[in-house]
Amino acid sequence: MKAIVYTKYGSPDVLQFTDVEKPSPKDDEILVKVFAASVNAYDWHFLTADIFLVRVMGVGLLKPKNPRLGADIAGRIEAVGRNARQFKPGDEVFGDMAGHGNGSFAEYVSAPESAFALKPANLSFDEAAAVPMAGVTALQGLRDEGQIKPEQKVLINGASGGVGTFAVQIAKSFGAEVTAVCSTRNVDQARSIGADHVIDYTREDFTQSGRQYDLILAANGYHSLSAYKRALTPRGIYVMAGGTQAQMFEAMLLGSWMSKTGGKKMGGVSARPKQEDLVFMKDLLEAGKVVPVIDRRYPLSQTAEAVRYLGEGHARGKVVITVEDRV
Ligand SMILES: NC(=O)c1ccc[n+]([C@@H]2O[C@H](COP(=O)([O-])OP(=O)(O)OC[C@H]3O[C@@H](n4cnc5c(N)ncnc54)[C@H](OP(=O)(O)O)[C@@H]3O)[C@@H](O)[C@H]2O)c1
Repeated sequence: MKAIVYTKYGSPDVLQFTDVEKPSPKDDEILVKVFAASVNAYDWHFLTADIFLVRVMGVGLLKPKNPRLGADIAGRIEAVGRNARQFKPGDEVFGDMAGHGNGSFAEYVSAPESAFALKPANLSFDEAAAVPMAGVTALQGLRDEGQIKPEQKVLINGASGGVGTFAVQIAKSFGAEVTAVCSTRNVDQARSIGADHVIDYTREDFTQSGRQYDLILAANGYHSLSAYKRALTPRGIYVMAGGTQAQMFEAMLLGSWMSKTGGKKMGGVSARPKQEDLVFMKDLLEAGKVVPVIDRRYPLSQTAEAVRYLGEGHARGKVVITVEDRV
């Protein structure tokens, strides 16, 4: 089968579109014919090892231990292992290969069935592949770490990317009043996905406005932790999902220390793929409360271009890899 592989860290130029052995499912696994995948910053970090921690975490100190890339996937089950009970051949599924060897940039994957859920019936494979990692990160950030409640004032910084476009819609589905922060060219997009208020970060710094929010999800960009803290209501919660490396390290190193005084909580989300959260997303998607925003599509052979585009940091929603023409 065709797949994307890499044997050294580097730019997307090191990605090769090549032939690899088609996997066969182990006892607890399902074999999925991939129709679409999507690109995440996660893939960029694995490709470039730009964050040293990625190497230390066992991905490979000098070169990647695992040559396969890609987490998000949507496709159709071709075969099931003998202990796999949840699905049957022919079922359409979506899922996240993180923690299962990655490899969604390929014609087939094999992984434990717990990595998948039935594809939302109303979504194309392209749309479904856009959901797992970004959608579940936004969900776990808002619901689990952020303790989101109806009528709260919630701000999403970086509202126009993969995580942000899901976060705006998920926060609305919880009944929050949502403020989206994005650049000028994405203001209309933020309104179209339901944001009640939109702040153009090129014109206004929300941390200086005096307005305060019950929950802030930081998906992209950078503000200091003290600036975020200032923009929280007295019992407000800050959840760092991503952004600049400084934003991530400040939240990890200083968050719990800064939460010790006063009622504000400064923390982060480290999203974990969970089948029940895929099902939660499926329900939101089928109810029409969340609609994936797709910026661009690339064929599997041009995955390097897709990853390069994502890596530039200005994707508007999700970047999808179309593996088979079944959208
Ligand atoms: N914690 C976790 O478990 C977890 C899981 C998934 C992802 N992440 C992290 O979350 C972050 C976001 O992921 P993503 O998929 O949303 O990335 P993405 O799709 O690549 O984000 C691109 C978007 O970010 C916006 N942006 C860039 N600079 C900005 C700024 N200064 N202020 C506000 N928006 C800005 C861009 O809009 P403009 O072009 O208009 O600026 C663009 O729409 C990444 O750092 C990723 O590593 C973390």
